[in-house]
Amino acid sequence: MRLAFRFVLPLMLLLGGIAWAAAPLVGDLIGRWFRTDVELRSRLIFHSVHDSLLSLVLTTDDRRAGRKIDELFRRISQDERLLAIGLCSPEGKLLHKSAAWPKALPCPPAPVAGQEFGQRRLDTGTVLAAAFSLTSDRDDLGYLVILHDLSFIEKRSSSAEIYLAVFLGLLGMAAAGVTLLMARLTLHYWLKAMRKGLVYRPNAEGEDGKVPVEIQPLVREMRKVMRQLDAPRSLTEAIRVEWGPDSLRSLLRNELPDAEVMVVSNREPYIHNMESDQITVQRPASGLVTALEPIMRACGGTWIAHGSGSADQLKVDSSDRLGVPPEKPSYTLRRVWLSDAEQDGYYYGFANEGMWPLCHIAFVRPNFRTSDWEHYVAVNRKFADAVVAEARTSNPIVLVQDYHFALLPRMVRERLPDATIVTFWHIPWPNAEVFSICPWKEEILSGLLGSSILGFHTQFHCLNFVESVDRFMECQIDREHSTVSASSGTTLVRPYPISIEWPPAALAGQPPVKECGDLVRKKYGLKADVRIAVGVERFDYTKGIADRFRAVESLLENHPEWIGHFTLVQVAAPTRSRLPAYRDTQVEAETLVQSINARFGRDDWQPIILAATHHEPDAVFTLFRSADLCMVSSLHDGMNLVAKEFVAARDDDDGVLILSTFAGASRELHEALIVNPYDIHAMGEALHIGLSMPDDQRRDRMRLMREMVGEHNIYFWAGRMLLDAARIRKRRHIERQIADVSKEVAAK
Ligand code: G6P
Repeated sequence: MRLAFRFVLPLMLLLGGIAWAAAPLVGDLIGRWFRTDVELRSRLIFHSVHDSLLSLVLTTDDRRAGRKIDELFRRISQDERLLAIGLCSPEGKLLHKSAAWPKALPCPPAPVAGQEFGQRRLDTGTVLAAAFSLTSDRDDLGYLVILHDLSFIEKRSSSAEIYLAVFLGLLGMAAAGVTLLMARLTLHYWLKAMRKGLVYRPNAEGEDGKVPVEIQPLVREMRKVMRQLDAPRSLTEAIRVEWGPDSLRSLLRNELPDAEVMVVSNREPYIHNMESDQITVQRPASGLVTALEPIMRACGGTWIAHGSGSADQLKVDSSDRLGVPPEKPSYTLRRVWLSDAEQDGYYYGFANEGMWPLCHIAFVRPNFRTSDWEHYVAVNRKFADAVVAEARTSNPIVLVQDYHFALLPRMVRERLPDATIVTFWHIPWPNAEVFSICPWKEEILSGLLGSSILGFHTQFHCLNFVESVDRFMECQIDREHSTVSASSGTTLVRPYPISIEWPPAALAGQPPVKECGDLVRKKYGLKADVRIAVGVERFDYTKGIADRFRAVESLLENHPEWIGHFTLVQVAAPTRSRLPAYRDTQVEAETLVQSINARFGRDDWQPIILAATHHEPDAVFTLFRSADLCMVSSLHDGMNLVAKEFVAARDDDDGVLILSTFAGASRELHEALIVNPYDIHAMGEALHIGLSMPDDQRRDRMRLMREMVGEHNIYFWAGRMLLDAARIRKRRHIERQIADVSKEVAAK
């Protein structure tokens, strides 16, 4: 509409101006045409009556001639345009006249060269007086005057002026309409061609043939910009950048200026508990927390999580917020409170009895209950509300964590459409057949597809997810670029193998390795000649703790030389103990330890020491540094950060890692001894190989693993995701600009 006004109005004004300027000229022209016409008619009349009039004027019988002249004049003046006709004497006296001769009008002056035309203004209007000399043998007999009424010419001229104006007006409108239509069609065609031209093709050069010549330079320019947006990702992959808190901060500053960072997870990074009237702070045993906490320390922002500690309520302000880390606050922790019923349904029920066993191949049956699902939906909404309430901008970067919040991305997308939602799934994603067990599979998929980016640890899990989407959702999958487009928008599905802080905070202040060994030996009563293996995890059935114990048994069976010279120190933090599967796991492990220790143990030596309590990161690192060997025997694990922490703790480049092939970490830590935790004998042999490994081989392996984890640390993980987020934000910005132009065109 605006275009119509902007375009049609000036055109109308221009044509109006032309009509206004041209109308008098046209009127004048038309007047002259008609006057010439009238003069011709007068001449014609004169010639047609000349002879008869002449003979009558020459007649001697004046009275008869006078009558006949009157009669002649009466006949001639029947012509409607002819006003009157008169005969004047050479002296200018009116001798004869037709009836309509105007009373006040005398004879016009005699013509000089035989004929004369002149205009007279009368009360009734303008008349043309044509005077023709009447001569015979050079005798001047007077002159004939023919009067024509010219008022019809004025009327016609002004009608012509009106017609002209109307015609030009209509012409203007028609021209404007046609031009408008052409402009819109061209613009539409250009935009369509441009959008096609901008569809991402890494080697899009040479496809310009499909783009109209006029906009080829523009499309080329835009493609260049789009390619530049993709460049940072390849940079991080191609160049060895040392990623640390500073590079992450500068990435945020340069690529995502003013971006507000928010994290949503179930588990909070700091738990305040009341223990014998004292408030203590606990750092939970959670890979997710281990990974994300350093990022938040570097970037600042708000972390929204369930306030699960017994003293959590006492430490927050009136808005349920507090600054953390407690010793030096650098970001905000916003606690969300859940009732016991909510926690039972959402956390224990749906998340940990449904989704957790569904996603891990550990042969524990998932349980899906409608009441749990209802709580899961409600709690996801509660956290989504908290995100919206905490957001200071309309387009924050929301980092959604894990299987507790599969529905939240879409809920946030609906209320903050411009937010960049990056969801990371910390556990494996099952194949489509297994996933189909979930009664709410469509809702889960559609919730996750509210994300701008959905990350998994491995490409394999990405493919499983895309396969599930393909099977159960109406959507478009672009396998080349790993995107899924559903009604809520497009989601980039990519692997981002998670990692740990480098160097880890828990390493600072650690005593030298030798001293750590002494401390641990002292703590657990281990003699100097006993080789130490460690295992550190939550007491979870996916971790293969019992299988690890069986492997120790197998080692001692098959290599009795280790009896009395090898001990596995297993730290296992109790977790989700309200659930039978977890209680059973713990009972099974404890029973097994008792039986193995009873079989091989002596008064002064036990093959397995099980410490089923929570250990703070410092204590865990001391344990890692004391060990000859670390065992990670997960039956299935998204990544397993214990493996990477062990490597990070060994700044002496020593120690052997035994790692399950079913942990995501085995895709990166190739120098570990990779084992199948279901093959107990092979795992026992791996223990023997690890304990017998020559020094230089151990160190070479450890150095390579340390290089890998040092480079691909948690800042690298976050950096890649944030760079992808920045790229998406810039692309969306350009797309939005194109859409705005399209909308503007459509509105016109
Ligand atoms: C896994 C999950 C995390 C979770 C952690 C500890 O690593 O991926 O989301 O925080 O286990 O489990 P918990 O239930 O104690 O938070």
